[in-house]
Amino acid sequence: MVANGGAVLKVALIGAGAIGAKVAELLGTGAAPGAELSCVVPHEATEGFSLGEALKDADVVVECAGVPAVRQYGPAVVAAGKDFLVTSIGALCDASLRSTLLDGGSGRTFLTSGALGGLDAIAAAATGGTVHSIRIESRKLPESLIQPWMDGDTRNMLRAAAHPVELLRGGPEELISSFPKSTNIVSALALAAGNWDIVEAVLIADPAAGRTSHHVVVDTSLGGFDIRITNEPSPGNPASSALVPHAVVRGLKTLANPSGSFI
Ligand SMILES: NC(=O)c1ccc[n+]([C@@H]2O[C@H](COP(=O)([O-])OP(=O)(O)OC[C@H]3O[C@@H](n4cnc5c(N)ncnc54)[C@H](O)[C@@H]3O)[C@@H](O)[C@H]2O)c1
Repeated sequence: MVANGGAVLKVALIGAGAIGAKVAELLGTGAAPGAELSCVVPHEATEGFSLGEALKDADVVVECAGVPAVRQYGPAVVAAGKDFLVTSIGALCDASLRSTLLDGGSGRTFLTSGALGGLDAIAAAATGGTVHSIRIESRKLPESLIQPWMDGDTRNMLRAAAHPVELLRGGPEELISSFPKSTNIVSALALAAGNWDIVEAVLIADPAAGRTSHHVVVDTSLGGFDIRITNEPSPGNPASSALVPHAVVRGLKTLANPSGSFI
């Protein structure tokens, strides 16, 4: 719900890790005028506090907790007529969940620009023309890409890597199912283009990637985009980017102020 006539936009947070804790801190310092933190939903609804209780007070629920949390909470949020701001965009690879969140509820689902830029231009090209192809190459520090499913040899290889190693090449679904905390932007590109079949991603473990880097090459009927982004890792989580909480707060700022711009 957009705050109108001076009403405050009340924000419930799911997840208070590297992104969520910074969002809470920024809201506390007034970084999004017109928006204020109403609560943080605890993990597993402990302490007698639940999403239902949070929904009574909140206008918007912000997910900063991971792909499973989008599945767990998202449908109830939009069904309750509340807005849902998602960081774990890879959850929308699931077509059924995507339809529930984007088209199914009385609340609206918003997707943060997160660690990436240029999504606005891709969405504009998709609106007025055709997006033919999107290729993204991401490089991250090897240690930050170690996953619970990896065997000992793979973990050791990543810890000792002295040269770049290509870990995975594929579409949004393949990337998010293997690296759910690190490849949400691949799904964001597919959503911006409105096409899940034209995005090819390459994930590289690179010991030289002190800053995470993304190189996105887009071919559309309205022009080509060549986007290069480097992100400082989040101080609280090297698998995450320091830019993301600021993208979330910027989104809340726009929601709290209906006269806000898209740039
Ligand atoms: N869109 C983007 O560009 C982008 C970039 C980075 C990360 N992300 C997404 O943001 C997520 C959060 O990132 P982070 O760096 O803050 O992770 P983090 O691990 O530092 O913090 C996650 C927090 O969520 C909490 N949590 C997990 N499941 C929960 C649940 N079911 N209910 C309540 N709390 C729960 C955890 O306890 C933890 O405090 C990532 O998992 C990733 O999916 C998106």
